[in-house]
Amino acid sequence: MTDTIINSVKTGFEATYGYAPTGVWSAPGRVNLIGEHTDYNEGFVFPFAINRHTFVAISLRDDKLARISSSFSPEIHEVEVTNIQRTESNDWAAYPLGAAWAIQELCSSLGKSISATGFDCHIESDVPIGAGLSSSAAIECAVALALNELWDAGLDRRQLARAGQMGENQIVGAPTGIMDQSASLLGETDHAVFLDCRTLESEAVELGFAVEGLELLIIDTKVAHRLVDGGYASRRAACELGASKMGVGSLRDLSIKDLVKAREVMDDVTFRRVRHVVTENQRVLDTVQSLREKGPRSIGQLMHASHESMRDDFEISVDELDTAVETAIRHGAIGARMTGGGFGGAAIALTPVEKIGEVSLSILAEFELLGYGKPDIFPVSAAQGAKREV
Ligand code: GLA
Repeated sequence: MTDTIINSVKTGFEATYGYAPTGVWSAPGRVNLIGEHTDYNEGFVFPFAINRHTFVAISLRDDKLARISSSFSPEIHEVEVTNIQRTESNDWAAYPLGAAWAIQELCSSLGKSISATGFDCHIESDVPIGAGLSSSAAIECAVALALNELWDAGLDRRQLARAGQMGENQIVGAPTGIMDQSASLLGETDHAVFLDCRTLESEAVELGFAVEGLELLIIDTKVAHRLVDGGYASRRAACELGASKMGVGSLRDLSIKDLVKAREVMDDVTFRRVRHVVTENQRVLDTVQSLREKGPRSIGQLMHASHESMRDDFEISVDELDTAVETAIRHGAIGARMTGGGFGGAAIALTPVEKIGEVSLSILAEFELLGYGKPDIFPVSAAQGAKREV
């Protein structure tokens, strides 16, 4: 499969630009096991890189032109590499261009001088788009890793994650945190990335799903999810308001016992947003500990509590996600929750292998009964992070 896409992205490059690329780099999408909307609150997250990837074929040019093409759009975007800005016409090309812009920005803020020459770039991906599996971070990280090498920028993987996030914030215009890029760059086979978003310290924690006869099912509801829409930004603003009402720099500084005071000093909606983040941080810590001490079959309750908190307190779930979660649990999943930014996208269900058929068929049947669109259901496994392929 991987070899087929590598060949096809090379062929696509050659057909578009008329010569062979210097190399092909890949970066995976991610799924978040637990820890939602905690990253931009300097909290904890626990995602893993998945076995779905974006591949980029790239060559440097002699001039300053950046040309970006892909298998999913007939357009070729062209821009001066030293003049990348946020514009409407960037469209999907804002992701690769954002990464190219951010590497230059980051290097200049670190006092590193690089010669950012132009490049030709062709992209192909099997990360589903809009499913909350970070197809965008996969593009950013693959391009960032490639340009870091070709421009000899010498940034490490944590800095590249920061570059991906900067590009997404400033060139795409989505006020997202650093979780997705960190998972895509730091992922390891069969491990999740336990990341402290304040210090950016991370640890790979073994998942052990296969040994325990478990698989993680993705239920892509196909309900559109876009991080540039207002819901994500308004949740982020509510968190900032809650932190300021409590006199702290970020919600990371609060613990569960502070919720008594929080309820007194803010309105009910802000309080519930804050309660989600504070309890979710604790659930990440509990999940990591439980996984280590008792194995993956012990984390189901925490996953479900996370879903309920997002549904009731953070209010970012939709009916299709709730249906997927409840149906999965009713038919044998150990735990299930929506994953990613919310307002659509995918749910995950940690499911014993012998129950996969029943869980999948029940969700399909329930969606049909309720008149929802047909979801896409497939398993994912924890994969290695971004790398050079050829
Ligand atoms: C999106 C963002 C992440 C994170 C999640 C919610 O995936 O890109 O930074 O905030 O939503 O946990």
